[in-house]
Amino acid sequence: MPPAPETTRRDSDWEGVRLHVVTGKGGTGKTTVAAAIALALAYDGRRTLVVEVEGRQGIAPLFDAAPLPYGERTLATPPGGGEVRALAVEPKSALMEYLDLFYHLGRAGRVLEKMGAVDFATTVAPGMRDVLMTGKLYEAVRRRDDGPVYDAVVLDAPPTGRITRFLNVNEEVVGLAKMGPIRNQAGSIMTLLRSPQTAVHVVTLLEEMPVQETCDGVHELREAELPVGGVVVNMVREPILARTDLTAAAKGRLDRQAVLDGLASARFGGHGNGKRLESLADGLLLEAREHAQRVRLERRERRALAELKRPLYELPVISGGIELGALYQLADRLREQGFA
Ligand SMILES: Nc1ncnc2c1ncn2[C@@H]1O[C@H](COP(=O)(O)OP(=O)(O)OP(=O)(O)O)[C@@H](O)[C@H]1O
Ligand SMILES: [Mg+2]
Repeated sequence: MPPAPETTRRDSDWEGVRLHVVTGKGGTGKTTVAAAIALALAYDGRRTLVVEVEGRQGIAPLFDAAPLPYGERTLATPPGGGEVRALAVEPKSALMEYLDLFYHLGRAGRVLEKMGAVDFATTVAPGMRDVLMTGKLYEAVRRRDDGPVYDAVVLDAPPTGRITRFLNVNEEVVGLAKMGPIRNQAGSIMTLLRSPQTAVHVVTLLEEMPVQETCDGVHELREAELPVGGVVVNMVREPILARTDLTAAAKGRLDRQAVLDGLASARFGGHGNGKRLESLADGLLLEAREHAQRVRLERRERRALAELKRPLYELPVISGGIELGALYQLADRLREQGFA
């Protein structure tokens, strides 16, 4: 964990970053963490936009809202006058916007749709889909109205295995389009994505596979010259035993008699039921051993993450499911650790 921030601290680790890309192994909490980041960054009167591109409608329910239509909608207004808006980018609408932007093809777009060309572009040609998604992101980051409309845009991004390709898709467009507006747009998007205004954060759990995927993903991003942000360790559980007990438990050397005495004095097992107490104690000792082994494994995974030399943030596992109250808890933890 990074050192605890001083209470007077006002600056955050990502001052100047306008586009936060949140990736990670599937199921580690990308959508949840993206929402919490958007909320954390919207305190102090700021306006943020959280964007999803996978067509899953995962964001709105976290804020206790109905699925999002194509359009930006306010989902939370944190204290201080700030605002979180959300957008679920839908490839067809994004393509219509794109055609209109470059060719003023508003009506022709609808003709293309009738011909099936839109389906082709948005589903059959996967690279095209990513071009549209990154184009929409770029537009949101750059949009102005007496200053930037959004202080920060947060992307609930594709998983680690696909993120570099996704962010680099415009590089291919630059290679294909020799000149003209499409090439210029692709070039501008790449410039933003490679600039210090972008940070690609990776969400992980303290388990072997997600940590391995995090390390691989960070190396791949670095090789592609994309700016790696922080590593967010999600769903962290506090050890339930003290350090010395953990060491003993891992070796199977916890004091069995003490556990038995404890159970007896708490009146477990019922009166005169020695056998039941013994099997209860053995069950507990086994659980303690497994717990200690897990804590040891987690320590190893933490060391592997520290070697990446990126800011680390830890978020606790929240019991009872993620809803708006839980998002605020996670946002507060991010702020305490200096993320926002
Ligand atoms: N800190 C947390 N505490 C408790 N539950 C969490 C936490 N973070 C995420 N979850 C839960 O874990 C599950 C996966 O989270 P989420 O959907 O955000 O992951 P994801 O990486 O976006 O998944 P996918 O790869 O499917 O898009 C959800 O049920 C979510 O509510
Ligand atoms: Mg998700």
